Amino acid sequence: MSAPTQLPFEQTHPLQVAPSLRTLRSEGTVQRVRTAVGDEAWLVTGHAEVRRLLADDRLGRAHPAPETAARTGESALFGGPLGNFATEQADHARMRSLLQPHFSPRHMRALRPRVEALTARLLDELAAHGPPADLHAALALPLPILVICELLGVPYEDRAQFRAWTQAAADVRDRARSEQGLAELFGYGQKLVAHKRQDPGDDVISRLCATDGVYDAEAAMLSMALLFAGHETTVVQLGMGALLLLTSPGQWQALLNDPGLVPNAVEEILRAAGKGGGGIPRYPRTDLEIDGVAIPAGDLVLLDNGAANHDPAVFANPERVDITRPAAAHLTFGHGARYCIGAPLARVELQVVFAELVARFPTMRLAVGVQELTVRRDVLTGGLVDLPVRW
Ligand code: HEM
Repeated sequence: MSAPTQLPFEQTHPLQVAPSLRTLRSEGTVQRVRTAVGDEAWLVTGHAEVRRLLADDRLGRAHPAPETAARTGESALFGGPLGNFATEQADHARMRSLLQPHFSPRHMRALRPRVEALTARLLDELAAHGPPADLHAALALPLPILVICELLGVPYEDRAQFRAWTQAAADVRDRARSEQGLAELFGYGQKLVAHKRQDPGDDVISRLCATDGVYDAEAAMLSMALLFAGHETTVVQLGMGALLLLTSPGQWQALLNDPGLVPNAVEEILRAAGKGGGGIPRYPRTDLEIDGVAIPAGDLVLLDNGAANHDPAVFANPERVDITRPAAAHLTFGHGARYCIGAPLARVELQVVFAELVARFPTMRLAVGVQELTVRRDVLTGGLVDLPVRW
């Protein structure tokens, strides 16, 4: 077998699959790669295999010897193994049972008018500011933070602080910084929990605190997991979604002509935005075989949902953004037992934003060339640094 391919793949265009990923994928759905920190891993790129393995409980996030396990990066939370190998499945089931009730369809329906009001306010400010403007700073960044703050009962005034910590925690290059960020975030969570115990509100942290058998440390950990997971990912999808609609011929206009397309447009944005080359990490708990390749227990397996979302066997002409195509089979929120708990919330935010943005700014366009935009490489979630627009 040839030498493992080095990650990250060189990205020649912010909106295209890296040429080396395309080549690698054509050679087989399971490939040997070397991660950014020099460890060897298996990259799985085929849609059928990624989907099947996401639902396979022989693979987990924990490792029996975490200090020796291969890593994707230096992030304390996502760079390597997570959790206790012996109790992983029970711990995970408990985490989901505590969090999922807060993201029920009933809760999400109740939240939609609030998301609409917050979006309308940000768009009023954007209109008052006038062109040119940075859509990232004006909308993609503040909206998910406003929403998650309201939902959790986290003071919006604290955003600069907790964002600095979540960004540090997601640093893929500097382990000490990542660990420090995580510790600060957890300390902040503990303070919030103490405050909510004294003075409960109508919010998720207060309800977690009031749940039988949930101690302060667990409530703080779960709350900060939501704060972490609940905004950065959505910020990225809002920015990339706007960029995809603005740069894909006819798509902005199509949405303007037929607002009924919004839910499907959101699925297509979710499918098309991630270009692969990373993926969801797993460690097989036993030896297994993927597409004829023997994978030893404990090896790092990267389930590349971005690459899977561009698998031509499932999505014809995958690099084309087409808001009318059947896109719902994408794996952007994962699949199976760990399917994203916040997916219903992210969908509400994306649907509200694209419905309102296109209707209010029918002539919006990019104010710079696509090649001038910078996609972040230092944090796990990627995303745009800014998104200059005119209308
Ligand atoms: C567009 C935005 C989002 C994307 C692309 C996204 C993506 C994902 C993915 C791929 C997973 C699965 C990870 C795995 O299999 O190991 C996941 C899990 C999770 N997400 Fe999201 N997410 C988004 C928004 C949110 C929001 C808004 C929240 C909460 C407010 C959230 C909370 C979670 C939680 C708690 C998990 C862990 C589930 C588990 O381990 O069982 N996410 N997310």
